[in-house]
Amino acid sequence: MTPARPAPRLILAPLKGFTDVIFRNTFAEHFQGFDGAVAPFIPAVAADRLTDKHVRDLLPHQNTCMPIEPQILGNTAEDFVFLSHRLFDMGYPDVNWNLGCPFRPVTKKRRGSGLLPFPDRVDAFLSKTLPAIPGRLSIKMRLGRNHPAEILRLLPVLDRYPLKEITIHPRTARQMYAGRPDLDMFQICLEQSRHRLVYNGDITDLSGFRCLATRFPGVDSWMIGRGALSNPFLPAMIRTGRDGVGGKMEKFRAFYEELFARYQERLCGPGHLLNRMKGFWTYFACAFENGPDIQKSIHHSFTLPRYLETVERFFAEGAGWRK
Ligand SMILES: Cc1cc2nc3c(=O)[nH]c(=O)nc-3n(C[C@H](O)[C@H](O)[C@H](O)COP(=O)(O)O)c2cc1C
Repeated sequence: MTPARPAPRLILAPLKGFTDVIFRNTFAEHFQGFDGAVAPFIPAVAADRLTDKHVRDLLPHQNTCMPIEPQILGNTAEDFVFLSHRLFDMGYPDVNWNLGCPFRPVTKKRRGSGLLPFPDRVDAFLSKTLPAIPGRLSIKMRLGRNHPAEILRLLPVLDRYPLKEITIHPRTARQMYAGRPDLDMFQICLEQSRHRLVYNGDITDLSGFRCLATRFPGVDSWMIGRGALSNPFLPAMIRTGRDGVGGKMEKFRAFYEELFARYQERLCGPGHLLNRMKGFWTYFACAFENGPDIQKSIHHSFTLPRYLETVERFFAEGAGWRK
């Protein structure tokens, strides 16, 4: 008899503007399945510019629902080390370095995925940073900025350092989210890296996850972002290996209402609240049979009362759960 495979380790991906402390806590109170989360990035700024606001989302007493790894975006070892110490003092032993952000204002300053074509710079950064930070470092990266093969020049550099793990989203930055993750390239990375690799990208349903788990039997950790926003039951389904949840609509509604109430308390002004909730619905809508219609009517709700009316009508009309 083949021994049962251990349950996969599931990590909530950082999605800036979405998976903040309010979302993480509300999610963990309503849904199961995640072992932890990487928090959206904090920019590494010079020591004299670092304020409490930068780390507000990570206050330990507000982050008790799931283990969190803070993420830092930057390319200056000094600033990175300073922020790592601050986070360590707050109780976070491990930090994550963002080498994946694909947005031009970030990459043109050679931050995020903008560093991927420069293995020497990555090497110099790590050689200064690693001996100076108090805990472990993990990395989250794409395959490259412009070409998937950029990662092949980086992996030997990363092999020289003691990293906790490397999460790979197998797309280039230039691709943004177009096309499919390059699984062949991820396989090559598995063969060429000595580090523990975490797979990330387009895990949206149980059968898709099973295909990935079969193809990469040596991978024990998986990071899920958009797929968990559009189907919050997905992590539990993956963990248990089956879709055994009943009353999804009621459970989703309870989650949504709590999320809304907490953002209403936190955000100043109806405009901010409306924008935040509209953002969430671009993902939530995917879970429903009439997703494109609900997405469209929410998108066209230009005031908070109109938005509330639209959502109320949507729930009252008995929308069907698709996933
Ligand atoms: C709106 C949005 C915000 C994101 N913010 C971050 C971030 O702060 N740090 C990071 O490393 N990746 C960020 N990402 C990338 C995701 O963590 C993840 O790598 C990507 O969405 C692919 O995984 P998925 O298909 O499971 O969503 C973001 C992605 C999106 C769509």
